[in-house]
Amino acid sequence: GYRTEDDYDYLFKVVLIGDSGVGKSNLLSRFTRNEFSLESKSTIGVEFATRSLNVDGKVIKAQIWDTAGQERFTRNEFSLESKSTIGVEFATRSLNVDGKVIKAQIWDTAGQERYRAITSAYYRGAVGALLVYDVTRHSTFENVERWLRELRDHTDPNIVVMLVGNKSDLRHLVAVSTEDGKSFAEKESLYFMETSALEATNVEISFAEVLTQIY
Ligand code: GTP
Ligand code: MG
Repeated sequence: GYRTEDDYDYLFKVVLIGDSGVGKSNLLSRFTRNEFSLESKSTIGVEFATRSLNVDGKVIKAQIWDTAGQERFTRNEFSLESKSTIGVEFATRSLNVDGKVIKAQIWDTAGQERYRAITSAYYRGAVGALLVYDVTRHSTFENVERWLRELRDHTDPNIVVMLVGNKSDLRHLVAVSTEDGKSFAEKESLYFMETSALEATNVEISFAEVLTQIY
């Protein structure tokens, strides 16, 4: 029968995490809009985009969340698109960021406290996660453990997690071997994939695999 844009069977929240610059926002734009930018700016605060996928004849709507890997943007500045599912209290104000008017939720508490509030709002209700590192920067792989700990601290133990080594197109600059990625994923019971948001390699399948596993 006829189905409208907003007709779906399941709505799954998936979060993107990982260090600044690993390519989270480009994986998101590649998957939801088939777009890539070489000059994308660091994400400030939190954004999300949706895309529907058909799995076994069911329409699964994925709500994919993207946040700043750079801590100063979550600690000191915070802007978040208004969404009722967050269900937390804050002051709101409209802001212009990169020519886009966004509704900012401004949290007025101090230091660590504020950071924790943002962290739990971001992770709240997530049933899937892509934990991204950059195959050309070993430090981003070393930090995966820290991201995984934060994820485990804030989400349901059944969350489906895909470890993603992004920028696989930069073959001559690889600093983290496929084997190292794979064995860390096995040790931590994560799915694993190497992707390139630039070349659109394995991006679709990474998200689709997470959504299929959740389903
Ligand atoms: P934060 O928002 O600061 O946390 O960073 P991010 O993880 O969202 O990174 P972003 O998507 O903004 O990408 C950072 C830089 O890496 C940009 O210059 C992108 O063009 C580049 N980039 C992202 N994905 C790829 C990729 O697959 N291959 C290559 N060669 N560059 C990429
Ligand atoms: Mg970003």
